[in-house]
Amino acid sequence: MLTPVPTAVPVYRTDDPHSFAYISARERWVTIVAGCVRDMQAEGAAATTDDAAKDAEECVARLEKLLEELTADAALVPLENDGDAEDLDVGDYNAQLLAYNDAAKSNGTPVMSYLCGPWLYVECYLYRKIWSCTRVSKHFAAYDIYRAQKRAAFAQSQRAVAELASHYATLAPALRAGEVATEQIAELFREFVDIALWGNATDLSLLTNLKAGDLANLQGAQARKQSEANVLVNDVAKAWEALTAGKGGARVDMVLDNAGFEFYTDAVFALFLLDAGLASTIVLHTKRMPWFVSDVMPVDVDLLVEDLNDATMFPTERDAISIVASQFAAQRAAGKILVRAAPFWTTANAFWEIRADGSGGGAAVWADVHDSTLVVFKGDLNYRKLVYDGAWARTTPFATALGPLATAGVTVLSLRTVKADVIVGLGEGVGEALDAQSNRWMWGGKYGVVSYNC
Ligand code: F6P
Ligand code: MG
Repeated sequence: MLTPVPTAVPVYRTDDPHSFAYISARERWVTIVAGCVRDMQAEGAAATTDDAAKDAEECVARLEKLLEELTADAALVPLENDGDAEDLDVGDYNAQLLAYNDAAKSNGTPVMSYLCGPWLYVECYLYRKIWSCTRVSKHFAAYDIYRAQKRAAFAQSQRAVAELASHYATLAPALRAGEVATEQIAELFREFVDIALWGNATDLSLLTNLKAGDLANLQGAQARKQSEANVLVNDVAKAWEALTAGKGGARVDMVLDNAGFEFYTDAVFALFLLDAGLASTIVLHTKRMPWFVSDVMPVDVDLLVEDLNDATMFPTERDAISIVASQFAAQRAAGKILVRAAPFWTTANAFWEIRADGSGGGAAVWADVHDSTLVVFKGDLNYRKLVYDGAWARTTPFATALGPLATAGVTVLSLRTVKADVIVGLGEGVGEALDAQSNRWMWGGKYGVVSYNC
């Protein structure tokens, strides 16, 4: 049985008017579901058969119903089993819903609704519901309702894609020939961690806020230098030690976040690790369903190579971009880069469920990753799940906030730009100094953390 509420700390809730959870639930979710309605309407209009048009119409009707429930703040009801044997997640969502509601009833507090519940649970539940609206159809069962947005955003990253490709293409031959000194490789490791970190600042929900759309500048050495002070926790040296302590043959796992530009930075990071001999295998963990708008699904891994090979999408630095694309495809074909999509990542479970004793909902993930040399968790949602989306004091040690995962033998490196209420591991006074500048500093992806635990 799951433990839906941690005993150590209360979790962020959608009915807390001071939280980003409150705004997300009332503004961002409505925009996102309304966007899904429009997307399916467009699919219906473009359908080439009556059957597909009718199917799209039914998807629209289901999404409109969901939008109504959301805006009316309906109580959450158990999910229906709408799929296959992999859908163990439905039972898991429903068991947690029941447990939360039982707890609410015994405390005399309201049962869970969209605007009154634990943020992490309700948000995951919503994305699972959105998926149901299309997956039960005939023509759109495998449809990614966010695909058009994902591609459009990636296409806006031309300069940064070209710059990073050119950087990689210049380095790779010497790395592969073993001609780069260890100190230089260590410096490059720090740089690629930095690039993958700031890649997370450019996820779909924040892209439109970037001044001058200047994604490329986020990757430039000078810009990263300027951002150094915005990395509030930096454990990169510990990650380097973990990676270089063994005798080679390291496996690095990446629990991915967003498709498009962020995934591109992760892919180049993965190639660097392989080329430099820091890793012999990279395991990429994706979501099995469309998730939080921009998250990577297995198909997005294939589409990365396809998009990079598209000269209309990325017209400059063609030689360098082709090198990244072909090298990535070659490493996949050679089995050096593997892709997995465990159902656990799209449950509402915090990563406290990745426990060594096999009792948690993340037992299968634990069995998969505990032998890995380094497990890199990308992005904001993964961070929230690592620390149970708890309202921790901001100076709480990362290990404390990781709960049972801290001692489960999993080597954790979180690369996260801060886009939610929770943060831990800050030095004394750091949070207060930032509060004095703005009470919303934690919501915009301007700050980052590189947090490690073993
Ligand atoms: O809306 C919830 C949220 O987790 C935010 O905290 C964040 O802005 C976004 O979704 C997802 O961010 P990321 O793609 O970095 O996980
Ligand atoms: Mg995401």
